Amino acid sequence: MARHRFTLLCGLLPVLWMLTTPVQTNEELKLITDLFTGYNKNIRPVVHPTDIVQVQIKLTLTNLVSLQWSDYRLAWNKTNHHGINIIRIPSSMVWLPEVVLENNIDGKFDVAYYANVLLYENGWISWLPPAIYRSTCAIEITYFPFDYQNCTLAFRSQTYSASEVDLILTLGETGETIEWVDIDPEEFTENGEWAIVHRPARKIINTHYSPDDLEYQEISFNLIIQRKPLFYIINIILPCSLISSLVVLAYFLPAQAGGQKLTVSISVLLAQTVFLFLIAQKVPETSLSVPLIGKYLIFVMCVTTLIATNQIVVLNFSLRSPNTHTMSQSVKHLFLEILPRLLGMSPLVDDSEESTEVNGVRERRRSSFGLMQRAEEYVLKQPRSEMMFDKQRERHGLTRSIVDNIDVSSTANLYKSLAQAAPEIKQCVDACNFIAESTRQQNNIGSEIESWVLIGKMIDKVCFWAAINLFIIGTVGIFLTGHFNQAPEFPFPGQSKKYVPS
Ligand SMILES: *[C@@H]1O[C@H](CO)[C@@H](O)[C@H](O)[C@H]1NC(C)=O
Ligand SMILES: *[C@@H]1O[C@H](CO)[C@@H](O)[C@H](O)[C@H]1NC(C)=O
Repeated sequence: MARHRFTLLCGLLPVLWMLTTPVQTNEELKLITDLFTGYNKNIRPVVHPTDIVQVQIKLTLTNLVSLQWSDYRLAWNKTNHHGINIIRIPSSMVWLPEVVLENNIDGKFDVAYYANVLLYENGWISWLPPAIYRSTCAIEITYFPFDYQNCTLAFRSQTYSASEVDLILTLGETGETIEWVDIDPEEFTENGEWAIVHRPARKIINTHYSPDDLEYQEISFNLIIQRKPLFYIINIILPCSLISSLVVLAYFLPAQAGGQKLTVSISVLLAQTVFLFLIAQKVPETSLSVPLIGKYLIFVMCVTTLIATNQIVVLNFSLRSPNTHTMSQSVKHLFLEILPRLLGMSPLVDDSEESTEVNGVRERRRSSFGLMQRAEEYVLKQPRSEMMFDKQRERHGLTRSIVDNIDVSSTANLYKSLAQAAPEIKQCVDACNFIAESTRQQNNIGSEIESWVLIGKMIDKVCFWAAINLFIIGTVGIFLTGHFNQAPEFPFPGQSKKYVPS
């Protein structure tokens, strides 16, 4: 390969030069003087003005462009020049085709360094200037960081039209056209962020120009590169998903935890803002499209905000009391009967009047206000007569005759007979009734507070399932669209040709 030969020669040159300096300098000098007498580098190397110079172009990663053409004026017969068959001369001395990168971004049309040209005895010129090209390239960030980019390097002659200079792709050693960007395996280091998927090269004829226009022909090299997303997965997506998934756990905090439920979601929201900030620094500033990862962050932030709002509503319900709110039957029906049934639970209604009694003790609800209350209820449910008198009368030694006169068949009768028997007892019973009544009221208040807590719990339960489903489906959906955004199999749609070395 020309480039190898070139580097090899570069290495050998000093040695050769030291050994053969006197002869070679003189011979080469003579040759160069011979060649360049009457040479004008501004004139195209053609015998007739209508002839076309063919310039072969090849791009090698990294940083080499290779141009080859023939300048008949610079051919010599090596038998007449001590067998010299190749010389190196500054590129400024010979005619150059002035091929430049048309779509550069920094106004540098040139190569980075004007290397010497290699001149062969038959007039064949090979020029391999190192170049660092920055081309303009429409970066499509919709799927960032699961995106692929299609960048084009378009080379054109800045001075010569197609009727003067014919740009073609370089021919390989076996005569095949090199229709790809060459990769020198020794020089090329794999990029950590991008993988090259396709690297086709082709000559483009813009038929809407005439061959006399400079725009008529161009050689375009495409680099279709796919981003390696691991960096972003490890550093942004994974931590962000993990932190965001915490917000769902806030539903497991009891209503009594109050503000802590909210603290969890607000902290998560703050963490997500930090991630959003990180991403904003990473992607190109454009309002044309929103990167996938940005969409994901917006999504999780929306979910978190929804959850925070939801928790405020739930707190509002859970911490209500009969003093401030009245619970309507429909609310009770909806949240404590219909919803639990839909969720496959037994209804949570707790109407003391309607509730079934098992062995005189009402069946307890799932959540209770404790044993104390249960005991109180038990006491309240016991027939008062039994409580007050069955044991008392023995303890106080009431004679059976008095007790027998007392009608215990109903509370009203009992009350009447007691009032007659002893006014003190009547007062005592009044007091007891009062205490019982207020305890019952307190109990009702307790059970209504409990109902509010239960309603809050039901809302929490429903919203928990809604939120966790939304979160999982959203996360999986968004990243699946990213996963399926792979570079196409062929570099040019509609052409099933891969443009790779065979
Ligand atoms: C080079 O010169 C030698 C002797 O002058 C001649 O025999 C030979 O044909 C020439 N070669 C070419 C390619 O012109
Ligand atoms: C890449 O860009 C070139 C030129 O702009 C276009 O012809 C080609 O179809 C593109 N390839 C893909 C895969 O988008």
